[in-house]
Amino acid sequence: MNPNVTEKKKLVVFFSRTDENYGVGYITKGNTHIVTEILASETGADLFQIEPVESYPAEYDRCIEIAQQEKRTNARPKIKEDIRIEDYDLIFLGYPNWWSELPMAVYTFIEKHDWNGKIIAPFCTHEGSGLSATERHIQSACKGAKVLRGMAIQGSTAQHDTIATRKAVQTWIDILRQQ
Ligand SMILES: Cc1cc2nc3c(=O)[nH]c(=O)nc-3n(C[C@H](O)[C@H](O)[C@H](O)COP(=O)(O)O)c2cc1C
Repeated sequence: MNPNVTEKKKLVVFFSRTDENYGVGYITKGNTHIVTEILASETGADLFQIEPVESYPAEYDRCIEIAQQEKRTNARPKIKEDIRIEDYDLIFLGYPNWWSELPMAVYTFIEKHDWNGKIIAPFCTHEGSGLSATERHIQSACKGAKVLRGMAIQGSTAQHDTIATRKAVQTWIDILRQQ
């Protein structure tokens, strides 16, 4: 993200889940959602949340079952709203790491759009796996886009330590400016 990109129109698109999650118990705001809000406050980007029409069960174990089935079948769960990414130059794409993959609903969103010429900055929350190979998956799915170096933040850090999370976001933005 060279300096003139900071002048471009920016959007944060994210997927995030509330209720029971790994290592954090029941939460009312998802880990990725928290990172997204900090990122938006640091960059002035607009926000858009990818929301599946059918929400996941509140219990972690039941959510796992559904998500696993979706991954196995390479499903494309229907999503509620959409946004014109055509109106933006730089898109931050945020998601939780689900078994080294993006939640399938993120692919539903990706496949609705033309990514040619867009700049994508991916970020994820996780509980140990980091970004895995998700940057590469995004590069394959978003034909013609330039994918910048991603950021990974532990979900429990996002949930419990706002100062550390904001610092990680600021450090990442500085790295992107040099790319
Ligand atoms: C279906 C599912 C699969 C997950 N798989 C992994 C995983 O493979 N590696 C990992 O580090 N964390 C995994 N997690 C933990 C999430 O990545 C982590 O809790 C994340 O911060 C959740 O973000 P959210 O609150 O924005 O949804 C998984 C969570 C769920 C619900």
